[in-house]
Amino acid sequence: MDTKIVRINEVNKDEAIKEAGHIIQRGGVVAFPTETVYGLGANALDKSAVKKIFIAKGRPQDNPLIVHVADKKIDAFVKEIPPLAATLMEKFWPGPLTIIFKKSELIPEETSANLDTIGIRMPKNELALRLIKESGTPIAAPSANRSGKPSPTTMDHVVNDLNGRIDYILGGDMSEVGVESTIIDCTVTPPCVLRPGGISLEALQRLDQTIYIDPHILVKSENIKAKAPGMKYRHYAPNAPLTLVDAGEDTIKVINDLTKEYQVQGLRVGILCTDETHRLYSGDEIHSLGSRAHLETVAQELYDALRLMDAKDVDVILCETFEEKELGITIMNRLKKAAGFKVIKSNG
Ligand code: TXA
Ligand code: MG
Repeated sequence: MDTKIVRINEVNKDEAIKEAGHIIQRGGVVAFPTETVYGLGANALDKSAVKKIFIAKGRPQDNPLIVHVADKKIDAFVKEIPPLAATLMEKFWPGPLTIIFKKSELIPEETSANLDTIGIRMPKNELALRLIKESGTPIAAPSANRSGKPSPTTMDHVVNDLNGRIDYILGGDMSEVGVESTIIDCTVTPPCVLRPGGISLEALQRLDQTIYIDPHILVKSENIKAKAPGMKYRHYAPNAPLTLVDAGEDTIKVINDLTKEYQVQGLRVGILCTDETHRLYSGDEIHSLGSRAHLETVAQELYDALRLMDAKDVDVILCETFEEKELGITIMNRLKKAAGFKVIKSNG
């Protein structure tokens, strides 16, 4: 399949959005930027269009898609809007929050992967909102990566993964948030966060103290039935094995010792660290995720950094850890998954 790739500028923008909208209307598949990560979109109400997303990504059939809307008028797609959901929509939409509702008959089983619920989100990105409006239909969209790979935060990431497999790539800027939306299930009491994301747990709890995070999410839980089906799969993984080093004040020493051990074996070592520490390492590829004082930057850089390590062809990757609060919960969730939960506390 030929993929049309359009890098958006002020001159071609209107025309490209029109063209991409027509493709969605005709049952095609379009990658587009959102403020979290790039999405791979199709008409959420058209089962054969939705099936194409699963094929292009190589995505397991039992993993439901998030439906993206351009306004808050979602009554036709859901059975009911619980009061908390209405409050969350008011406060956090448009933005990186996906809310799980009981779905209406309009949503085909292909989109919801046979669940009776549906995740809906109104993105903040201007191109995303204009594309949904132009299409005249809600857009089902997972992240626009091949299944298992880190989510794409730039147009080039999408081109690498999906060129030749989809109809159209609407190329915008680097995603601002850089990690996926927070998912909250408002069909259960108390309401439960199924995936930490761009909106912190603490921000949600400031609205409703009963909101909690599914404890299985923060630990390795292969045997437990994941409530967000996608969370059980291997995710965000770079090609080289990634190990997290959480050794407190000894972290730099442990990483440098491990680096030497690997290099003696002839392995190329990639190190993911922070602005505060990057001069202190001796790996073959040393890359800072940004300053610890700005976790927003770390989140934005994260997937690009994992993909960069692939591009640099390192054999092993060592990475610092982050305190698990606010956006740090999300960052650590993605890092642990990318590392297959391999965390070293000390050397020896
Ligand atoms: O930021 C985002 O959410 C991005 C952008 C493109 O909007 N999308 C995204 O989609 O991350 P995806 O498909 O890569 O991840 C969706 C996650 C999966 O883990 C899926 O299992 C879960 O959401 N999910 C979707 N619908 C659900 C439902 N009804 N109940 C529970 N989990 C659901
Ligand atoms: Mg994804």
